[in-house]
Formats: sequence, C-alpha cells, structure tokens
Amino acid sequence: MKLSKHILLAVAALAIIVSCKTKDEKIETPAKPNTLRNVYEDAFYIGTAINTFQIEETDSVMAKIVGNEFNSITAENIMKSMMIHPERDSFNYELADKFVALGEKYDMFIHGHTLIWHSQLSPWFQTIEDSLEFANATERHVKDIVTHYKGRINSWDVVNEALNEDGTLRKSVFLDKMGEDYLANAFKWAAEIDPKADLYYNDYNMTNADKRKGAIRLVQNILDKGIKVDGIGMQGHWHLDSPSIEDIEQSILDYASLGVKVAITELDVSVLPNPWDLQGAEISQNFENKEGMNPYKEKLPDSIQVKLANRYKDIFSLFLKHKDKISRVTFWGVSDGQSWLNGFPVRGRTNYPLLFDRELKPKAAYDSIIALKQRFDKQQPVK
Ligand code: XIL
Repeated sequence: MKLSKHILLAVAALAIIVSCKTKDEKIETPAKPNTLRNVYEDAFYIGTAINTFQIEETDSVMAKIVGNEFNSITAENIMKSMMIHPERDSFNYELADKFVALGEKYDMFIHGHTLIWHSQLSPWFQTIEDSLEFANATERHVKDIVTHYKGRINSWDVVNEALNEDGTLRKSVFLDKMGEDYLANAFKWAAEIDPKADLYYNDYNMTNADKRKGAIRLVQNILDKGIKVDGIGMQGHWHLDSPSIEDIEQSILDYASLGVKVAITELDVSVLPNPWDLQGAEISQNFENKEGMNPYKEKLPDSIQVKLANRYKDIFSLFLKHKDKISRVTFWGVSDGQSWLNGFPVRGRTNYPLLFDRELKPKAAYDSIIALKQRFDKQQPVK
C-alpha cells in the first residue's frame, strides 16, 4: 500500500515534470527569422550567385548572409567551361566541389551554370577543326561534368544564350560545328547521365517578343524529339524602367504554356544610365565610361533607392502572382559591391542593383520584398 502510494506520487511528479518540459520546449521553439529564404519558402526558391570568396566563406558576415537568406546557389563563374574544363584532357573540379559542398551544408537547391556557352569558353573548343571530333569532345564535356555531380546538382543550365535578338540561332562554334542538333544533343546527353536533374535553357532579353518566340521554338523543337527540357531560365538583367511588368508577365505565361518550369536565374536591376538603350547581357559589349554615365559615385540618392525598392516590389508581386509557374528566383550576387554591373556594360562604374549595400546591410529593396510577401500571406484565405 505504502509502496504503491510512493509509486503513484513518483508517477505524478514525473508527469508534471514531463508536461512542464514539453510546455517549456514549445515556448522555447524559436520562430523562424524573417529571412528571404524563410519568408518565400512556400513560393519558390530564393537563390544567389556566389563567387570564389563566398564559396570559401572568407568573410564571416557575407557567409552568414548567404547561409541565412538564400536556399539556392549558382556559381557566378567557376563552372563555366574555361574554369572547369581548361584543357581538353583535364577538368578542374576543385572549386566547384567546394561550391557544391557549401550548398549541401546549408541544405540548398544547387544550380549548375553552365554546360554549353559560347562565352568564357575554354579555348581548346576553338582548336578542333573536324566536326565529328568536336561533337565527341562536346559530348564528353557535358557527360563528364554531369557525371561528376550526378545526384548532387539539382538543375543545370544545359545551354546558355543560344539565341540572337531576332530569335534566330546565334552563330556560335557549337552551331558552326554541330548544326542545330547541338541543342537537342546537349539536353539528351545531360538527361542520359542524370535523369533526375532539372534541365534548363537559359538566356537574357527573354522578355523581348522576337527572342521569346525563338526560345519557344528552340525548346519546342527539343521536346518534339522526345528529349526532355524541364525549364526555361530568364536571366533577368533588368533596369529601373524596363522591361515592363506586362512583358515579363507575358513571357512567364508563354514559357509556362510549354509545360516547363520558369526560373528567374540572374536577377539584378541596374540603376545607372543605359548606353544606347542597351538591353540584355551580351558580355562582350563594353562601352567607354563617358561623363554622366556614372552619376552616383559616392552614394545612391534616396529617391533612386525608393525607386529601386518599388521596382523590386512590382517584380516580386508579379512573381508571387505566378508562383505556381516559377521554380526559383536567383539574384546575380548578394551585395552591390560584388555586382558584375559595376563593370558591365561600362567599366568602372558604381552600380546598386542588388538587395544588400556595400556595407552588407539590407537595402530598402530587401525590406520591400519581405514586407510584400508578409502582406501577401495575410491576404491568402486561411486553409
Ligand atoms: C558574368 C559574371 O557575373 C562576371 O563576373 C563575368 O566576368 C562575366 O559573366 N549572363 C550569364 C552569366 O549567363 O554567366 C554572366 O556572368 C552574366 C550574363
């Protein structure tokens, strides 16, 4: 009797302790911080391009931003053929391996950029005269890289920038040596090696009507051959006033109507004057730094900061409207100081196209995108 009373008391005490603990644990569970990756988690991946310093986590503040704010990464340069396949018979996977390991550490969606591209092209491609030899070497290029990262890279830009502005095929060394088939073959080779990776066609100026039609033709031709294309990447090197939201929307709708995913793969918004109204991202174009081309050398005026925040808000409102079609939105870098737009299309300018400033502080554009999604969530019907 005495014993069972003790047992009863002990059980009751234990129950109290356990219930207190669960209660405490509940209270202690921290709410997820309002970072980009958390706030947009249920809409689409939020990615960034990263350079060697970011891959190696040289700067601890930057490393924290990358890990906390983004759930997808793209290598800004180190997976381009020049870097990853410098000689015909030797691949250099060292940095790319670190890039993939970083993505795995932060549980990120890892995007491979890019298998076939005429720019930053390894010089050995140009030295092969014979067409069959060229095709075999290109096949090996694609297959070796995809094999190396099989099951670890989630999606690939299989072909980058194959189109001219009028929608015809660009006269690259690939077209020259292999004819139009290089496009379908590249997708076929990648799919043979890693059928689970999502395979994308990626290009700039994808909102322009002629180029858009060309991209649709290009992808449809591959699909018609029974070869898979999983998505279309719109680079998204945009400006404060162009392209229009209507053109961006029409493009998302048109691409999605092919039954493929749409990704915004290299988003940045230049705030600087645009020489000759240049659109797009043809990296071989470079203009002289004339007077008036670099107006915000010291600081971005508040009025432009607000304009940029509003532009990002409008762009992201559209992305949220079509979140069922959009798989990923990746910024072309984290901070203004790192952006390639300080050197393109005019060298030596001070541009402000991204979400974090040169001191790595979030800008008004960052706040506007976070606030937009929070408002969006409140307006959704409660399930
Ligand atoms: C850019 C990089 O950001 C620069 O560092 C490099 O000097 C040139 O290439 N379209 C693409 C990207 O697909 O790979 C380019 O990246 C920007 C345009």
